[in-house]
Amino acid sequence: MAEAKAPQQRGGYAKEVSGERLAEIGIRFEVDGEIATIALDRPSKRNAQTFATWAALADIGGNLPEQVRIVVVSGEGPSFSAGIDLRMFTPEGVPGQGSFSSAAQLDATTFEQRIRQAQQGFLWLRRPEIVSIAAVQGHAIGAGFQLALACDLRIVADDVKFCMKEPALGLVPDLTGTKPLVELVGLAKAIDICLTARVVEAPEALRIGLAERVVARDDLAGAVQDKIAELLSTNRDAAAATKRLLQGAHARTLEEQAVAEGLEQSQRLKALFGG
Ligand code: ACO
Repeated sequence: MAEAKAPQQRGGYAKEVSGERLAEIGIRFEVDGEIATIALDRPSKRNAQTFATWAALADIGGNLPEQVRIVVVSGEGPSFSAGIDLRMFTPEGVPGQGSFSSAAQLDATTFEQRIRQAQQGFLWLRRPEIVSIAAVQGHAIGAGFQLALACDLRIVADDVKFCMKEPALGLVPDLTGTKPLVELVGLAKAIDICLTARVVEAPEALRIGLAERVVARDDLAGAVQDKIAELLSTNRDAAAATKRLLQGAHARTLEEQAVAEGLEQSQRLKALFGG
């Protein structure tokens, strides 16, 4: 697969990150036609994430080539991601990126900006123009769980272990994961999962709607490819318009949703038949 070149910018994010810099951070990014793949690639550290990871994700999102319809997020090695780099909890922190104790000294505005920047790495994965798929094996802990939650769909291996560990460490999940979790599993189950920091394994993940599909570990890549083929079989503009409708449905009344459907359909008909 060729690395993306000269992508057209879609968002208002920072500049494009070079492939070399991505490799240093521990991310592989490839674009093949309509499919982009982001692989966390620091398996020896179980794909632990840092602020640099999130900045790079935001840059990828902000520079995603227009032709991309599907974004696959995966992790190399035994774990999808073991969450935030535990060096953040040490006084030394992550070189060049500080620590939690240095972050605690920031004034409120600067701290909020830092969190918002990190969250930009996750939020773009819900854009209507794309469908994002998390391919999750092994541990998806904390920020790893939230990265999987940031995607539209989760296809998981039968050894998956989701865990929202933040409350056990005195923190809250703040990488955009709380809303999708509540929407997927309901408030009571989300409280149970987060406030116990317990592990959710594959059968439960499937049962409560955290995972769309569970497959054997060796079949994960194939299952993702199958889903991609299904998703690419529909019209791209109709797919984006339908995703917009589905995403807005929760906040609208039935009447408002009906109006929104009519407006989107009118655009579709104009595009298909002119007028
Ligand atoms: N940050 C930095 N390094 C990590 C992390 C992490 N989050 N997780 C694992 N590693 C490193 C280990 O230190 C070890 O490095 P070393 O070989 O240099 O000693 C290597 O990855 C392998 O880790 P093991 O623990 O040996 O791997 P194993 O497969 O047995 O266990 C597991 C994997 C369960 C994920 C375990 O590593 C673990 O519990 N990690 C910490 C999870 C965590 O608490 N994350 C923070 C959540 S909160 C948040 O994300 C905001």
